[in-house]
Amino acid sequence: MATSTKATPSSSSAARGRPRRIVLLGATGSVGRSTVDLLERDPEGFSVAAVVGGRDAAALARVARAVNAEFAAISDASAYGALKEALAGTNIGVGAGPEAVIEAAVREADLVVSAIVGAAGVAPTYAALALGRDVALANKECLVCAGIPFIKTAKRTGARLLPMDSEHNAIFQALGGADAATVERMTLTASGGPFRTWSREAIARATPEQALTHPNWAMGPKITVDSAGMMNKGLELIEAHHLFAVAAEKLDVVVHPQSVVHGLVSFSDGSVTAGLAAPDMRVPIAHCLGYPVRLETPAPRLDLAAIGALTFEKPDFERFPALRLALDVLAGGGGLPTVLNAANEIAVESFLARRIGFDGIVRHVAEACEAALKDGTAREPSSVEEALHVDHIVRERSRGALAATTASGMLTLQ
Ligand SMILES: NC(=O)c1ccc[n+]([C@@H]2O[C@H](COP(=O)([O-])OP(=O)(O)OC[C@H]3O[C@@H](n4cnc5c(N)ncnc54)[C@H](OP(=O)(O)O)[C@@H]3O)[C@@H](O)[C@H]2O)c1
Repeated sequence: MATSTKATPSSSSAARGRPRRIVLLGATGSVGRSTVDLLERDPEGFSVAAVVGGRDAAALARVARAVNAEFAAISDASAYGALKEALAGTNIGVGAGPEAVIEAAVREADLVVSAIVGAAGVAPTYAALALGRDVALANKECLVCAGIPFIKTAKRTGARLLPMDSEHNAIFQALGGADAATVERMTLTASGGPFRTWSREAIARATPEQALTHPNWAMGPKITVDSAGMMNKGLELIEAHHLFAVAAEKLDVVVHPQSVVHGLVSFSDGSVTAGLAAPDMRVPIAHCLGYPVRLETPAPRLDLAAIGALTFEKPDFERFPALRLALDVLAGGGGLPTVLNAANEIAVESFLARRIGFDGIVRHVAEACEAALKDGTAREPSSVEEALHVDHIVRERSRGALAATTASGMLTLQ
């Protein structure tokens, strides 16, 4: 399994007494800010080689100053001047544009935290992995877009992929290094999101404001919309398949509205181990930052008696067709997950821009997958470069298709 490819963890530097060097990709986002919160609490334990953001120069400058980063890179080349000005008077190096992002990603480091949203995270995360850097993976789109090449590269370079997504982190902890052959089932829990109890018709008419209101987690807009339609859980199943080298048939989802149990592993002797924690991303982030050393976090502690009841439900594929679609795509394999991921990113953007309805997201992604199967775009990418090429083609197509909407916001089918 990709999470345990190194015999001697380089990550015990915190225990060895020297600060662990961190590169933080997506430093201004929800996961990025939670990571910064932990780094700021332990200035002796960590040094920050680089921070990376997308477009918000002021926010990136604040983060860079807060963690005293050596280098700050912003993806939007036009933001160079603003970032330079915001960091004037500091020793923090400044770069802008995609090359600067890669330069940041490959800086010497003990751990690269991959928390850029979407396929934009693929190239920098891969650049670090290819150099053998350990990566803490919050960005699930990396493994959905280019899972096979990522895992092959991790094996080749000896880089470790530590799961930072809460469900995968829980499963990683629940596995405890067990022999993969003894695993009968891996179960990811899903909160069910804001539409858990809504009818299919009501979900179809949901507004961006309603989709952006998650009951348990405060996250960036893309993952929040993905969670509302359970596409997020579909992406996570594909991520788990690659991360834990587990067959699709052994993967399972259960809806658990309290978000206390995050993942479970069922073994061949009937034993089940589970990862539990309060729904606070600082728990899995800290687990990765210190691994294998446990850090202290200010996350709320679990009080099961106060919670009283933990409940579980089967997912409803009728009301949440995105989950069924992602399972079909996982079973179909090849380049279908790459297509699904790219089409979904553009469809979510279009929904947030009110160009399509909520049900238009899954409809568009299904159509994009069908079209890619027909014309050969869904062939399995043999490298990350090929996966990114497919990603690019599908994005362009999706942009074209979704721009062609009627005044009433209905999708015009190709
Ligand atoms: N939020 C969670 O609790 C959570 C939990 C598990 C997994 N994840 C995963 O973690 C990833 C990040 O999620 P998030 O919720 O933290 O997202 P977010 O709040 O939207 O933050 C996204 C980050 O990516 C940066 N970014 C966007 N486009 C970029 C580009 N082209 N190049 C470089 N940086 C770019 C953003 O910079 P700007 O601020 O400048 O735009 C920001 O720092 C996603 O893959 C998500 O699925 C999130």
